[in-house]
Amino acid sequence: MSVVTTKMQGDIAVVTIDNPPVNAASQAVRQGLLDALRATEARQPAAVVLICAGRSFVAGADIREFDKPFLEPMLPELLNAIEAATRPWVAAIHGTALGGGCELALACSHRIGAPTAKIGLPEVNLGLIPGAGGTVRLPRLIDPIEAARLAVTGKPVSAAKALELGLFDRLAEGDLLAAAIALAKDAATQPRPEPLLTRAAPKVDRATWDAAMAKLTAKARGQDSPHEAAAALRDALDHDGVTALGLERARFMRLKASPQSAALRYIFFAERAVGKSPRTKDVPPRPLARIGVIGGGTMGAGIAASALLAGLGVQMVERDTDAASAGAARVEGILGGALNRGLISEAKHAAALARFDAASDYATLADADLVIEAVFEDMAVKKQVFAALEQACKPEAVLATNTSYLDVNEIAASVTDPSRVIGLHFFSPAHIMKLLEIVVPEAVADDVLATALHLAKTLRKLPVLAGVCDGFIANRIMSSYRREADYLLEDGALPHEVDAAMRAFGLPMGLFEMQDLAGLDIGWAARKRRAATRPASERYVDIADHICEAGHFGRKTGRGWYLYGPEGTPERNPDVEALIVAESARKGITRQSFTAEQIMTRILGCMQSEGAAILSEGIAASREDIDVTMVNAFGFPRWRGGPMFMQTA
Ligand code: 3HC
Ligand code: NAI
Repeated sequence: MSVVTTKMQGDIAVVTIDNPPVNAASQAVRQGLLDALRATEARQPAAVVLICAGRSFVAGADIREFDKPFLEPMLPELLNAIEAATRPWVAAIHGTALGGGCELALACSHRIGAPTAKIGLPEVNLGLIPGAGGTVRLPRLIDPIEAARLAVTGKPVSAAKALELGLFDRLAEGDLLAAAIALAKDAATQPRPEPLLTRAAPKVDRATWDAAMAKLTAKARGQDSPHEAAAALRDALDHDGVTALGLERARFMRLKASPQSAALRYIFFAERAVGKSPRTKDVPPRPLARIGVIGGGTMGAGIAASALLAGLGVQMVERDTDAASAGAARVEGILGGALNRGLISEAKHAAALARFDAASDYATLADADLVIEAVFEDMAVKKQVFAALEQACKPEAVLATNTSYLDVNEIAASVTDPSRVIGLHFFSPAHIMKLLEIVVPEAVADDVLATALHLAKTLRKLPVLAGVCDGFIANRIMSSYRREADYLLEDGALPHEVDAAMRAFGLPMGLFEMQDLAGLDIGWAARKRRAATRPASERYVDIADHICEAGHFGRKTGRGWYLYGPEGTPERNPDVEALIVAESARKGITRQSFTAEQIMTRILGCMQSEGAAILSEGIAASREDIDVTMVNAFGFPRWRGGPMFMQTA
């Protein structure tokens, strides 16, 4: 059956695209639309409604076709032909109308949206700009700065916002198709709006425009596409529609061939490929309605809030009633913040709180389907907690640990049934960070793994599977490049030079600034714990230990790698710099200067060799697992794809 079908409903032709999963505008869809256009032009219905089957309107061009030669008919020409149709075309939008899907809707004479629909131009997220008239038609329909906001940030807007902007003519009350047919009938009796392509470009004061674009592109951090989208929008204002369309296409084609777009497309598919295991195919997860969280500190509170926001019930257990109250207050603080920022409604906030309880008694966990332990990072404490869980929980309850580094096999072996134990390593803040490392111990049961993946989906997290080792994927690579950054200090670099090199590379923050923010005491405690087992032959840099010994733990004490004034801006710390120079001398190292590029070559090389070791040991199953982890855990620039992608690209 064709992916595009046309049926008459009275005097209205209803053209339906049915190309699961997201109705991407593949060659078959484009050909089907061209055929439908020809048929409706020949038949001359009063008007045409264009609607999609399944979960969404067209979610964009088919990205899978981008690495192949172009296939006719091409989207821009098809859209020009739809715009030039003699009958009105009404786009009936549900789900998401993104990229080429938004452009298709713009080529129609009218647009109606379901109240839950979203529309936008996310091409920048793939290192592209709209390539089928989006930057040309949109600023001729709505306020050009609002058009630029869509194309430059890539963020879609809600149906209500689209109506307010004039991007939708109407919202559908009730049945979308019926409402679209009503709009089509009205459109058939009214004069046709002038096609967007032939409308005059709106005038925007240059200074206002430049200021708005500077703001919109401020967060691009080395990524070209937002700047290119802003430039394409400018072209659209400076030229007639047809000329601007040619310029947009040329820009799109150039970007499609760029390394940044290749990297962003790679990571788009990598994020959808990870978190799958052949072991869980056809294995149903265990029931998941109420979870337990042990520990109401930074992580426990974030995990509890994340679960509550996803509709689960949460029982928190702390050491004593005071600690339980403090944990509950943390959770309430996070939920209150979400309410104040308008992220959740009053009703959702109240329902989340009603599903939450905090206590000091493990007996409250009797009905929990899965329990996540987030207590101190100490094997003895963790084992005590697991022993208590074994007593308190039903036998089929999954027992998970949020440990950052500890041996999950050892924790599993401490209970009678190790097959129920798994690692669920969340990142801080746990209610915000999307990444979830699922640490798979040797004895884990398939349906426990399936339950962990199901939990990730319920929490809308991005799961990556990791084997058991010190630090799993994320922290193991971080520890290794942290070590390298410490070597760089002894070899001649200063903290601000390392941080500047990392920011220039595209990371949101340098490693030393990040440590100051997190608190130097955490790493210090971990180093002291490991001191006994550290091989004497290992090169060890103790600069951070000296800073901590002096009582300086970073931002929270006003001093760390940097000095922090009342404004909180990091300033170079002369005492630390003197200490670094003295340490080099003490070890007999002749300090040399490094360029930003040399610094990043060492740090990146270290990430890559640790990544290669992780792959060869089977801790990660694919390079995608490592790259998705690095991009989502530590802000490795998406537009570089990830350390492993960079090695092979
Ligand atoms: N082309 C090809 N495949 C696509 C696709 C696209 N545009 N969009 C999504 N898919 C695939 C995904 O790879 C995934 O495949 P899988 O099941 O084999 O892993 C499947 O569709 C479902 O996608 P998600 O898992 O992401 O489903 P969600 O419901 O979470 O999200 C979505 C749906 C919001 C549409 C999200 O997939 C998305 O953001 N897609 C990309 C949208 C986009 O960037 N569009 C612009 C494309 S470029 C363009 O249009 C150029 C034009 O200007 C010329
Ligand atoms: P935290 O110190 O903020 O919280 C730990 C909480 O556990 C405290 O509230 C404490 O009262 C409670 N607790 C201790 N023993 C307990 C017991 N026997 N029963 C019940 N509650 C008990 O620590 P944080 O940062 O939340 O870390 C918790 C775990 O999460 C650690 O294993 C850590 O390695 C891991 N983790 C931490 C991340 C972070 O960025 N902070 C990131 C990912 C994992």
